[in-house]
Amino acid sequence: MADRPEHNYTGFLGWVEDRFPAMETWNYHVAQYYAPKNFNFWYFFGSLAMVVLAIQIFSGLFLAFHYKPDAALAFASVEYIMRDVPGGWFIRYMHSTGASAFFVVVYLHMFRALIYGSYKGKRELLWLIGMVIYVALMATAFMGYLLPWGQMSYWGAQVIINLFNTIPVVGNDLSIWIRGDFVLGDATLNRFFALHFFIPSLILPALVFVHMVALHTVGSNNPDGVEIKQGPKGNRWSDTAPKDGIPFHPYYTVKDIVGLVVFLFGFFAIVFFAPEMGGYFLEKPNFEPANALKTPEHIAPVWYFTPFYTVLRAIPDPWWGTVAMFAAIIVLFFLPWLDRNPVKSWRYRNLAHKMNLLLFALVFVILGWMGVEAVTPVYKELGTRMTQIYFLFFVVLWLHSYPKQINYVKWFGILLGIVILYDIVFRYNAEAADEASQLIKQFPLIVIYLGLTLLLPAFKPRFNEEKAVPDRVTG
Ligand code: HEM
Repeated sequence: MADRPEHNYTGFLGWVEDRFPAMETWNYHVAQYYAPKNFNFWYFFGSLAMVVLAIQIFSGLFLAFHYKPDAALAFASVEYIMRDVPGGWFIRYMHSTGASAFFVVVYLHMFRALIYGSYKGKRELLWLIGMVIYVALMATAFMGYLLPWGQMSYWGAQVIINLFNTIPVVGNDLSIWIRGDFVLGDATLNRFFALHFFIPSLILPALVFVHMVALHTVGSNNPDGVEIKQGPKGNRWSDTAPKDGIPFHPYYTVKDIVGLVVFLFGFFAIVFFAPEMGGYFLEKPNFEPANALKTPEHIAPVWYFTPFYTVLRAIPDPWWGTVAMFAAIIVLFFLPWLDRNPVKSWRYRNLAHKMNLLLFALVFVILGWMGVEAVTPVYKELGTRMTQIYFLFFVVLWLHSYPKQINYVKWFGILLGIVILYDIVFRYNAEAADEASQLIKQFPLIVIYLGLTLLLPAFKPRFNEEKAVPDRVTG
């Protein structure tokens, strides 16, 4: 066994340290972890995600004391928690609000990585682990939503599991395997409950641990995207630490507590005053018990899934819709290789890139909004156009980071041509007059998006200029 470093701890701490690297681990990961000194607002969300995970695990545990994973009893057991269990309503609302809070925090955490290029500079694996966490989180939330056994629980799961039927050859067997039965029922509820308990209590904490080990191996990125580990060494705590690094504890533990307090104010304001959040956190049909004979008028998943639900609905063919929905998630795994510009932070990238990122965020929000709305010709077309822009974003990101200067006008033509061709071959149907007119009316959205991100930098040099990256972090 390799020799461990000498330590100066005495008493009980010394006794423990001789047998277990408690302080060594604390120092390596917290007290002597030198994080860049310029973290800003966007760096609150990693620690907040950890707190929300803890809230979910503990509130979930207390719910599990009283919940019954039985199709005949589940709905009533949730009502029992709400009405009869002392403080049950509080635990349940913490858990349901926590689910939405988790996604708010994680989406902001991911967007931070996008704007500061935090998936670059040996952080590709860190990003990939993050993506695995994100997928595990979605699976957990999806299975959790079935547990109250309300109308939306039942029909939401029905729609999503039936999507697997569209997979050629194995689809039918796969959906039976997922349900554990030919129909959605007791067997499904039982396994979803087991997995909904297992993933967040064991898999997610393990993944977060691996996420942290990966982060602390390469070091944190920061709003300037300048690697502090590669800069000059020596600060007032250590001669070997990065000059622009400060110990995570106490500096960032204190900063994170400020963020936590603000977050908890918002969180408990929702728990106490608006737990249903106008039907966005707890949907109205879910206050009715599941009924296999009565489909709700309008089936929509919870808000954090709706961007992908809109992508699914944007393509009329169920199989290709499913492919597009999964592709919308899978493409995110490839971000570190799609964005090849060595400059990480958007602070020093050109205006066209900044605009692309902001438009992507806007499109993601609109996709989410479309997913909760009933389908009308206007919304249906808007959902499709936003889906097209969602995928175009990744192509434009790749073009913007192409190592050589490329002809943006040519690419504007190519991408527009592809969209027109797709519209003509697969979408234009003169017989559905309303839809055909919407298709034409909303086409300018694609022209505007490509115009802003590709034509502006082609004709206005101001939009194509990158700033010089400083040698050391600013601020
Ligand atoms: C349970 C969910 C998660 C937890 C608890 C978590 C936790 C953290 C923490 C504590 C940090 C360091 C502090 C910070 O940068 O804010 C961090 C950094 C990071 N996380 Fe996560 N994370 C989660 C999910 C994700 C997801 C879904 C992604 C992306 C797909 C991701 C990507 C990253 C990246 C790229 C960094 C480095 C950021 C930088 O140094 O600029 N994380 N994470």
